[in-house]
Amino acid sequence: MLQVENLRKYFRDGWWGRRLVKAVDGVSFAIEAGSTFGLVGESGAGKSTVGRLVAGLLRPTDGRVLFEGRDIFKANGREAFYLRRKIQIIFQNPEGALNPRMRIGEILAEPLLVHRLVRGRHVRERVGELLAMVGLGPEFYSRYPWEMSGGQNQRVVIARALSLGPSLLVLDEPTSALDVSVQAQVFQLLKQIQNKMRLAYLLISHDLELVSRVAGEVAVLHQGRLVEQGPAASVFSHLCVVYGHK
Ligand SMILES: Nc1ncnc2c1ncn2[C@@H]1O[C@H](COP(=O)(O)OP(=O)(O)OP(=O)(O)O)[C@@H](O)[C@H]1O
Ligand SMILES: [Mg+2]
Repeated sequence: MLQVENLRKYFRDGWWGRRLVKAVDGVSFAIEAGSTFGLVGESGAGKSTVGRLVAGLLRPTDGRVLFEGRDIFKANGREAFYLRRKIQIIFQNPEGALNPRMRIGEILAEPLLVHRLVRGRHVRERVGELLAMVGLGPEFYSRYPWEMSGGQNQRVVIARALSLGPSLLVLDEPTSALDVSVQAQVFQLLKQIQNKMRLAYLLISHDLELVSRVAGEVAVLHQGRLVEQGPAASVFSHLCVVYGHK
């Protein structure tokens, strides 16, 4: 469903952009529909940059991202609009992702209206369904983001991503900002949603243990390059040997 081919992203940094940062330096992998692909690596390895490229938020220096065989950076017009719906990204910090001046109901209605997926009185109904899908009751409709917990806000962020009927969610450390007990609940929810909607996940995390539990396929990024790639179990056991995990 998604193919990443020899992807590169170089940033100019330092005084007058004299230093070249090779954040992503020739990365290739593929994600099957409905599967979870884990991307791990130390801080600064380039994980988030890969996520942003896949979600179309950054343009690559070189290489391609193909979604259903179509190059996402060559798409325009209707096709680009369609691709923006099909690939959604969720970041670590739900508070920063939600407009504090808008009520949850308005936040969830907005993308439905922009993409003209539902009209008129059906909007409220659809928002109610989305809230229910992420385990929130109708009372959240009129709340503001700052009247909710971090876990509840992240559920709203997930509901908003789901509202557009995506096929792929890029999850960039989706639970790192949350309390440990809440992390497990959010992952449980993501698992349920994946089974129900046959979503593919690109799960970005530095938590090897977590990724090895939920991902089928895993890739390890180191200084912008993939140094390991394969089924989660074999990559994980190899890394345990290399880094001396138990
Ligand atoms: N807009 C930018 N301009 C310059 N350098 C950047 C930019 N974005 C990222 N970088 C650099 O690219 C490298 C990779 O960053 P990235 O955010 O992808 O790492 P990461 O693996 O997600 O790290 P973390 O685990 O800390 O989130 C880093 O050295 C970072 O400083
Ligand atoms: Mg990151």
